[in-house]
Amino acid sequence: MTEAPALYPAPGVDPPITSEGHESIELQHVTKRFGKVTALDDVSVSFVPRKVNVLLGLSGSGKSTLLRHVNGLHRPTDGTVTTLGTPVHSASERTLRRLRGRVGMIFQHFHLVGSMSVLENVCTGRLGSLRGPRIGLFSYPRAVREDAMEQLVRVGLADKAFQRADTLSGGQQQRVAIARALIQDPAVLLADEPVASLDPVSSAGVIELLTSISEERDLTIVCSLHQVEIALDFAHRIVGLRSGQVVLDRTAAEMTREDAYGIYSAVAAPVAVDDRSWRSPR
Ligand SMILES: Nc1ncnc2c1ncn2[C@@H]1O[C@H](COP(=O)(O)OP(=O)(O)OP(=O)(O)O)[C@@H](O)[C@H]1O
Ligand SMILES: [Mg+2]
Repeated sequence: MTEAPALYPAPGVDPPITSEGHESIELQHVTKRFGKVTALDDVSVSFVPRKVNVLLGLSGSGKSTLLRHVNGLHRPTDGTVTTLGTPVHSASERTLRRLRGRVGMIFQHFHLVGSMSVLENVCTGRLGSLRGPRIGLFSYPRAVREDAMEQLVRVGLADKAFQRADTLSGGQQQRVAIARALIQDPAVLLADEPVASLDPVSSAGVIELLTSISEERDLTIVCSLHQVEIALDFAHRIVGLRSGQVVLDRTAAEMTREDAYGIYSAVAAPVAVDDRSWRSPR
């Protein structure tokens, strides 16, 4: 007798979130409107697992909006988003909270608590998995404090652990933010212009750190940047956005500097992904 196929997930039960076999991040025909503004316009893209994927594009082209769809901070007006096997477009808030436990995020302005010690800032990365409020470093379990210190060692800031976060330089603060994301043991790290506030030397240091951590931990990184040269040097894959549309999508190895700078050419008209005419000199 043939067994009836298992219902999976059972009705009303959220599917499990694992990275095993569900590494992909995929947007299919995603449109996002904010009132009359179309921030994303029929975007279909998938990111390469365990690699550094970079989004390039002018201010307002939709980079942050796209990143925020990956962890469900935004939901599409139309289309589907699947992250680590989770259908973000239709997931419950509870499922999204669990997904965000596997998807870390860092920002241009670091979002640290300046008055807190560096070590406590890193511990806060575990708040999602701890019950109850935590105030003060010693309100965190010892294992969390030890883990936080290990992350600080990895980002090269163990000697700053007990300093106030706001006494650190911008580059150091971004490293603390990376450590805070890593303590979640994420499968995916979203980085929204992580080096936009940093000088060129600190920028290169932070990007090098991100790429080496991606290799060590098989971490998928999706990172928005304004620096074409950094993208060409460090990205595995580059996706160009213009006016909410994908105008370029290929590996950095296959991309010329002219291609990459072409993403910024001032063309108002939307261009299809497979139409390379937007690259012609004008
Ligand atoms: N919450 C929102 N409400 C209304 N409009 C929004 C919202 N978020 C983004 N937009 C609009 O969507 C468009 C894309 O914005 P987005 O922030 O994604 O661009 P970006 O590429 O990240 O730009 P930047 O490089 O300046 O960070 C812009 O026109 C922006 O004004
Ligand atoms: Mg942005």
